[in-house]
Amino acid sequence: MPTIAEEISRALRLGKDKGVLAVDLRLLIRANEGFKDQMDVFLHRDEEMKDPALFRAQVERLLSGEPVELILGEAEFLGHRLKVTRDTLIPRGETEELVALLTQIAPRYWDARNFLVCCDIGTGSGAIAIALKAQFPNWVVSGTDISQAALEVARENIESEGLPIRLFQGDALEPLIRENIAADIIVSNPPYVLSPEEAQPSVRDYEPSSALYFNPDDNIYEKVIRDVRKVKKGALLLAFEIDPGLKDYLDGLMSRYLSDYECTYKEDLNGFLRFLFIYLR
Ligand SMILES: C[S@@+](CC[C@H](N)C(=O)[O-])C[C@H]1O[C@@H](n2cnc3c(N)ncnc32)[C@H](O)[C@@H]1O
Repeated sequence: MPTIAEEISRALRLGKDKGVLAVDLRLLIRANEGFKDQMDVFLHRDEEMKDPALFRAQVERLLSGEPVELILGEAEFLGHRLKVTRDTLIPRGETEELVALLTQIAPRYWDARNFLVCCDIGTGSGAIAIALKAQFPNWVVSGTDISQAALEVARENIESEGLPIRLFQGDALEPLIRENIAADIIVSNPPYVLSPEEAQPSVRDYEPSSALYFNPDDNIYEKVIRDVRKVKKGALLLAFEIDPGLKDYLDGLMSRYLSDYECTYKEDLNGFLRFLFIYLR
């Protein structure tokens, strides 16, 4: 049987011009070998690999462009290991930033130890809702999605995290209106890729288009900003992840539908305008 180190070298040789990353190989090996973390991959590198045939098949999938998270069926989000499938977006680092910013910004307006009502619109795998509920156990967190298949994955993640988060199916704010939920915070990472050409092939080919592409005639930004008054009891904070190219569009929505608000755009760590926070008094 080949050793772990030999199999890694082979895979890196094969994937040299195809963008195969050593970190992805270590993630696969950690899962296959039942190691606790990636450190164990280094520490056991000279041992025989348990199932080289499985690893080689996974490497073939990586070579054809499939994201490692889909091969593993899981992704890491702010320390939470979440199930992901072809029905959910793979949660991204930018969305981790959105959550981190929200944990800084929300306490400017409220004592974050309060029982704030927070809704994650378009929850996908449940990543944002789970990270927020874990951070703020007192918050009453719910997640919504138009996709029943995505909600089933979110439900599994919520159950395995043991967090009380309610899930609702429906379009944008419609479930909150239906359930008579008044929110303090609405957070959303809506589909915002402006065109399929902008997405990398591994994204375009493997992630659900309903989670990816912005539609100027039917989108979460407009529905949420248009209907937010229907779910507002006191002050309300909206937190969006955005594409930088949507700034003029979003400015237009705010001036069309909102009054008595303040808004702040923030850049992500790559320097792109990526987040919009709107505080409605
Ligand atoms: C970009 S993904 C975000 C998933 C997850 N929140 C995350 O950050 O990883 C957008 C999600 O919004 C959902 N979605 C798309 N249109 C929607 C709508 N009109 N109402 C509710 N959810 C919608 C999609 O099914 C998808 O799960």
